[in-house]
Amino acid sequence: MKILVTGASGNVGSYVVKELLNKGEKVVVAGTDIEKLTRMFGDNVEVVKFDFEDEGTFNNALEGVDRVFLMRPPHIGEPEGIYPFVDAMRSHNIKLVSFLSLMGVEKNTIPPHHKIEKYIEKIGVPYAHVRPGFFMQNLSGIHSVEIKEKGEIFIPAGKSKTSFIDTADIGLIVATLLHESETYANTAHTITGSESLDYYEIAEILSKVTGKKITYKKPGFFKYRSYYINNRGLDKKYVNVTVALYFMTRMGTAKMVTDEFYNITGRKPRSFYDFARDNVDCFM
Ligand SMILES: NC(=O)c1ccc[n+]([C@@H]2O[C@H](COP(=O)([O-])OP(=O)(O)OC[C@H]3O[C@@H](n4cnc5c(N)ncnc54)[C@H](OP(=O)(O)O)[C@@H]3O)[C@@H](O)[C@H]2O)c1
Repeated sequence: MKILVTGASGNVGSYVVKELLNKGEKVVVAGTDIEKLTRMFGDNVEVVKFDFEDEGTFNNALEGVDRVFLMRPPHIGEPEGIYPFVDAMRSHNIKLVSFLSLMGVEKNTIPPHHKIEKYIEKIGVPYAHVRPGFFMQNLSGIHSVEIKEKGEIFIPAGKSKTSFIDTADIGLIVATLLHESETYANTAHTITGSESLDYYEIAEILSKVTGKKITYKKPGFFKYRSYYINNRGLDKKYVNVTVALYFMTRMGTAKMVTDEFYNITGRKPRSFYDFARDNVDCFM
């Protein structure tokens, strides 16, 4: 049987595909942009058109599939946007879904991930929730523009600490859970890096690896929100979600360090220093 990977072209999904192929699994990559998926994965996988907002694409995507990596595209803000596909997984007797959730949602009902986890459990699809900390790729992706152009980290996280994780490590965890689906049925895993850093420490590491001065600007929420909507032109709803997440971060919700990555894979998660050094081009 095959494993369906939703969001296969994304930060996490692309590593899930890589690690599943390493384990010898048959993979179906899913998304709305078929050409991009074909370009990325070539003949190694099956490519299928899949849209959370078009139920007509579900049956085809789930044909011959018994396990699923499920992610919520960032623009689908309401949990109900994911429910029809969860129902479809139940109808297809999926034997394990690994849902890309978020650290702390077992106690925090505000992010959509909380309700999505609960819905999967209620509907009765066996699950292995993955609850990661913030991605290192936030720095090398969305926030790299200001780092490159102005030498500034422009994130409203105050003095809080974050236990950043590399999405490559999340990909390995998800692939392991799906590969060993009986062992991990009905489990949840909080996955973090091995250290918790504030953004002053992140700035120091980035300065060291790039050899140029990078500073943490510590903007307030209003300044950050206005800049990302008006100057960067990002979607208002998306920016509002990130404001809520950074508010929670300031309350200390992003700093916990767990050893789940080591317990499941037998390896240490990648450090932010190693990540920054290996991706130095993203910051220069
Ligand atoms: N950033 C963080 O620090 C962090 C931490 C914890 C959890 N998370 C969670 O991680 C998730 C994001 O994961 P990511 O960063 O890997 O995603 P991403 O890189 O933003 O990629 C989004 C993916 O969604 C697919 N997609 C977009 N619209 C779709 C639709 N209508 N139907 C089906 N697929 C669609 C895209 O593929 P196509 O273009 O082919 O459609 C793409 O592969 C979010 O739920 C976020 O809350 C993020």
